[in-house]
Amino acid sequence: MSSTQHTPADGHFHPHLRPRRLRRTEALRRMVQETTLTPADFILPLFVRHGQDVQQPIRSMPGQFQWSPDKAAAEARAAWQMGIPAVLLFGIPESKDALGTENYAPNGIIPATIRAIKDAVPELIVISDMCFCEYTDHGHCGIINHAGDPHYTPRLPEGYLLNDATLELLARASIVHAEAGADIIAPSGMLDGMVGAIRAGLDASGLDHVIVMSYAAKFASGFYGPFREAAESPPQFGDRSGYQMDPANGREALKEVALDVAEGADIVMVKPALPYLDVLSAVRQAVSLPVAAYQVSGEYAMIHAAAANGWIGLERCALETLTSIKRAGADMIMTYFAKDAVRWISG
Ligand code: PBG
Repeated sequence: MSSTQHTPADGHFHPHLRPRRLRRTEALRRMVQETTLTPADFILPLFVRHGQDVQQPIRSMPGQFQWSPDKAAAEARAAWQMGIPAVLLFGIPESKDALGTENYAPNGIIPATIRAIKDAVPELIVISDMCFCEYTDHGHCGIINHAGDPHYTPRLPEGYLLNDATLELLARASIVHAEAGADIIAPSGMLDGMVGAIRAGLDASGLDHVIVMSYAAKFASGFYGPFREAAESPPQFGDRSGYQMDPANGREALKEVALDVAEGADIVMVKPALPYLDVLSAVRQAVSLPVAAYQVSGEYAMIHAAAANGWIGLERCALETLTSIKRAGADMIMTYFAKDAVRWISG
């Protein structure tokens, strides 16, 4: 006869083995906690537009705004004072055109904002999201093959996003943003070769200290909806599935990450975050570089919307998602909750 007793409910229950012992009190739970959020985990995205003293609410993203450079600098300073090490900038240009020219204009919205932020908080890490969708009149992430346009390539399909012609412009814009003071260039267009082209362009301009953080595994996601309102960048025809990844593909994400590592990425990102925690975890295991995750606009909006209805708790659910993202392997999280999260975890 064995000395262990078995319950009728579970023939395998062993009364000595009780994991609940470690959960009994708040202090015990704190002691055994595996994943702890800190302010240094967060990167705050900011939308910036021309003007002065502008703080325009974004309807689908409660608590988020489009800022003019002066107000963005004040917001960046507030984030820095809370312990948040970095901001990520998205620009809304004065005007849009087929080639997204404001993205590489030295006095464009992003260089102007970078200078304002660096004046106000020199140590804050400034990340420039490097993509053309905010700057092009068609809303795609680069130059479109269009009969009659200067880059028209008859052998390629009409409407095709021209990869290599766009790479040249990405490198050019990256140099402009880096010269304005960006510490990190974060290409987000999912073009082939974007990391290598930007790395080569920066190095050729004596900007070898500038970091490339690649949106390496970026999926064609419905969760970018609110962002397209915030950045005024919806595609005017078609969608982005010709360059962003199919949400169904996990192995392909590892291929994309490996290519970006080979091209010289310093940090790789998975985006969105919550629906792709499996990908995040696999990337974490596959590479030794720092890994970032982007909790995107729709993830933020859905938590806010459910909380506004009283269906879930805002703070609890936001922190639960951020903890899960870190647990899955993120070393840093771009999140619109950054400032709230710091308040919550230190409150
Ligand atoms: C592209 C870009 C997008 C986001 C970040 N960079 C939009 C897109 O790919 O359509 C989305 C971020 C978010 O939804 O919060 N420049």
